[in-house]
Amino acid sequence: MSMNLILMGLPGAGKGTQAESIIKNYGIPHISTGDIFRAAIKNQTEMGLKAKQYIDKGNLVPDDVTCGIVKDRLSKDDTKEGYMLDGFPRTIDQANALQEICKELGRPLDAVINIDVDPKVLVDRLSGRFICKDCGATYHKLYKMPKVENTCDICGGHEFYQRSDDKPETVKNRLDVNIKMNTPLVDFYKERNLLFTVDGSQDIDDVTKDIDKILKDFK
Ligand code: AP5
Ligand code: MG
Ligand code: ZN
Repeated sequence: MSMNLILMGLPGAGKGTQAESIIKNYGIPHISTGDIFRAAIKNQTEMGLKAKQYIDKGNLVPDDVTCGIVKDRLSKDDTKEGYMLDGFPRTIDQANALQEICKELGRPLDAVINIDVDPKVLVDRLSGRFICKDCGATYHKLYKMPKVENTCDICGGHEFYQRSDDKPETVKNRLDVNIKMNTPLVDFYKERNLLFTVDGSQDIDDVTKDIDKILKDFK
């Protein structure tokens, strides 16, 4: 059985955090459009420079750019046994494009996991987030501190940074833009009987347990 998944949720809901455990437990590739854009920005590619104009304002990168990236990525061999999309799709047009891509590549979706969190807590989640410069592991100054002070749990690195789109001016628009798109997307997957919702306001480990309960049936 395959494990072709989407992790969906508003900014700060915990997609990246839960993805770390899912990779560890199930070994499927993690495909985060946000991570792909940030890598392209860092490498100053043409696509990265274009995407940066949108990301820095908290807006969505145009669908044609984003869908092209996902199609290329899903065409790679390592997605044959499963994949986990994080942060894609974010619009109905992207969701429709993904249906086509999945059909064409013979990689049909098995489940969409919606990490549901009250938007009120998200500003706090995003403003307290910091990330390891070496491996990209995600932390929070209140909810997920490294086990050893100033040392990454995963790679032992000592340097951390804050994402540029986590500054307060950007966060507000990012949340507004994503909240607007969220309900139609939830409905899209509900209608197709693919949607599983978990309560993302619980502690990180409890959210992981709820996701595991869903995923063990797809293994
Ligand atoms: P992207 O990088 O995907 O950002 P996002 O959707 O805004 O989501 P985040 O990565 O901010 O949140 P997350 O859910 O991963 O939360 P995390 O686990 O880090 O996209 C960035 C930008 O790229 C977009 O704004 C857009 O411009 C562009 N883009 C990307 N995809 C696109 C698309 N498909 N179409 C168009 N444009 C696109 O957790 C957050 C914090 O909370 C962390 O500090 C964590 O430690 C903490 N935390 C996590 N879970 C819990 C918990 N249960 N309790 C307490 N704290 C928790
Ligand atoms: Mg993320
Ligand atoms: Zn690290």
